[in-house]
Amino acid sequence: MKTKFITYLVLILAISMTAMVSAESLRVGFYQSTCPLAELTVRRSVNRFVSRNPGIAAGLIRMHFHDCFVRGCDASVLLDSIPGSPSEKEHFANKPDIIAFAARDSACQVGGINYDVPAGRRDGRVSLKDEVIQNLPPPSFNATQLEDNFAKKGLSLDEMVTLSGAHSLGISHCSSFSNRLYTFNSTHPQDPSMDTRYAVFLKTRCPRLSSKGASRDPTMPLDIGTPNTLDNTYYKELSNHRGLLTSDQTLFDSPSTAGFVKDNILHPSTWAAKFALAMVGVGSIDVKTGTEGEIRKNCKVVN
Ligand code: HEM
Ligand SMILES: *[C@@H]1O[C@H](CO)[C@@H](O)[C@H](O)[C@H]1NC(C)=O
Ligand SMILES: *[C@@H]1O[C@H](CO)[C@@H](O)[C@H](O)[C@H]1NC(C)=O
Repeated sequence: MKTKFITYLVLILAISMTAMVSAESLRVGFYQSTCPLAELTVRRSVNRFVSRNPGIAAGLIRMHFHDCFVRGCDASVLLDSIPGSPSEKEHFANKPDIIAFAARDSACQVGGINYDVPAGRRDGRVSLKDEVIQNLPPPSFNATQLEDNFAKKGLSLDEMVTLSGAHSLGISHCSSFSNRLYTFNSTHPQDPSMDTRYAVFLKTRCPRLSSKGASRDPTMPLDIGTPNTLDNTYYKELSNHRGLLTSDQTLFDSPSTAGFVKDNILHPSTWAAKFALAMVGVGSIDVKTGTEGEIRKNCKVVN
């Protein structure tokens, strides 16, 4: 099962890499002629790191999303802060899980592939912490807000629901959802849209006062059913009212998106195909080409 999952991940990463070169005004097939081993190199290193720690897969997939939603897919998420100007990395959404390994050679290696390829997606020179919150949707968003947020990046409602299936992998800190357990609103301390047994379970794991940066802020799997497999179980959990984040549960509870959730439950292979395509869509948001940006020599600093 693990091998199947890794193969799947590699496929998706390979497709999103292809997206970098197949987007408009980027040249297709450049890897084959100038750097024939590029994809194999990425695949090998991803395989190596993911088989050691499956959590890395979740981090990589999330990083692709976060990089592309802020200033396009330009690896700006990897840039270190410069004095007086905190970078995207400084935002908590990019800190705890993602950048810990992105700073490692592994992700540099994965991101670094671009640098060896003369044509293709170019790297950004700007990375600003404040732009993270302006562009990334918070976990408190409802379906309408999520729809608007993704529409700004040229992604459809169906694509938004499809991509949310990435939450079939990985973890969330309690602070991202503990309001649903303890301080929902003045009449309902607990979010009534959450399965009560699931809420009881979560309360045993999450302390009442989890806040961002709290010293004790445990993590829970986003998909309690199959936390380490990229599959449609996430959507089944939503239909059982076991979505972890408000932004997850709202997809089943809102009339505009419920149909997509149900389709993804009934047709897993269609969902998988849509997911791969939507990752390509994410990978072509505001791609820099020609003389825009630069080809970074070091992943972490502009030239
Ligand atoms: C629909 C809007 C989305 C919202 C509101 C959202 C929000 C979040 C939040 C709050 C977390 C947990 C952070 C924490 O507390 O540690 C998370 C984790 C994650 N997100 Fe999203 N996300 C969204 C869409 C996406 C998309 C489109 C992808 C990728 C295609 C994605 C991939 C992931 C992954 C893989 C994790 C787990 C990371 C890990 O385990 O290290 N998310 N997301
Ligand atoms: C979603 O949130 C927005 C902003 O808070 C609100 O105006 C809107 O009514 C909400 N939509 C639904 C369906 O709850
Ligand atoms: C609290 O949330 C519930 C469920 O969404 C809703 O029915 C109720 O009106 C809300 N109460 C207040 C005071 O907003």
